[in-house]
Amino acid sequence: MNINMDIIKCKDEDEMSRRAASLVAEAIHRDPHSILGLATGSSPVGMYKNLVKFYEQGTLDFSKVRSFNLDEYYPIQPEDPQSYRHFMNENLFDHINIDPANTHVPQGNAEDPEAVCEAYDLMIQAAGGIDLQILGIGNNGHIAFNEPADHFPAGTHLVDLQESTIKANARFFASEADVPRQAISMGIGSILRAKRIILLASGEAKAEAVKACVEGPITPFCPASALQLHPDVTIFVDEAAAKLLSK
Ligand code: GLP
Repeated sequence: MNINMDIIKCKDEDEMSRRAASLVAEAIHRDPHSILGLATGSSPVGMYKNLVKFYEQGTLDFSKVRSFNLDEYYPIQPEDPQSYRHFMNENLFDHINIDPANTHVPQGNAEDPEAVCEAYDLMIQAAGGIDLQILGIGNNGHIAFNEPADHFPAGTHLVDLQESTIKANARFFASEADVPRQAISMGIGSILRAKRIILLASGEAKAEAVKACVEGPITPFCPASALQLHPDVTIFVDEAAAKLLSK
């Protein structure tokens, strides 16, 4: 257990989403030029809804914010409804005043994905680095698309998705066969370079991954356990996802 991890236990997913959104909003109020690292998946959807609400109420301005998403399927066209670019437009970007030119999602239709990977970390560094990274967690402890493995991938890289991830994500596709077999993902090193990290997890299916992330050994077999090495991590969990935590 890392003393730098702040565990915020919430009653349910709604409370988790509201509290996480307030933290993000405060960060943007403090620094309107914030660079956000953004995640897809169901975990941050409620948080994005709350951020949209703050914008609509006139209390949050994204005009100077820049963003870098964690990952994207490969290969996939940006306009494909299952692409993470499409997800971000639908769930956040289209509803706030962020400049689309300031939003970055790894290019899932690139001819040379290795070149995209290399350029992505350089782009983040050139922008000044990520101020606040938002993460979900996979049932198997993956963060972004860093799957359990015998090493921690450092930078943005091309990943072969594991069977369990393909199965878990098949719910968004017409069939399991339609899930792309690869993805471009920020590495564990890219993620740990963020100045501050928040992770959201809700539902019983995440309980084991959350326990391994917070209380388990630091091992690439649970990629999220690398977060124990980071000095400023806040984990928002609902009761179901927190149920195996010892404290
Ligand atoms: C996907 C994404 C991750 C996400 C995870 C959990 O594979 N690449 O960034 O955190 O799954 O998804 P969910 O939030 O839908 O449970």
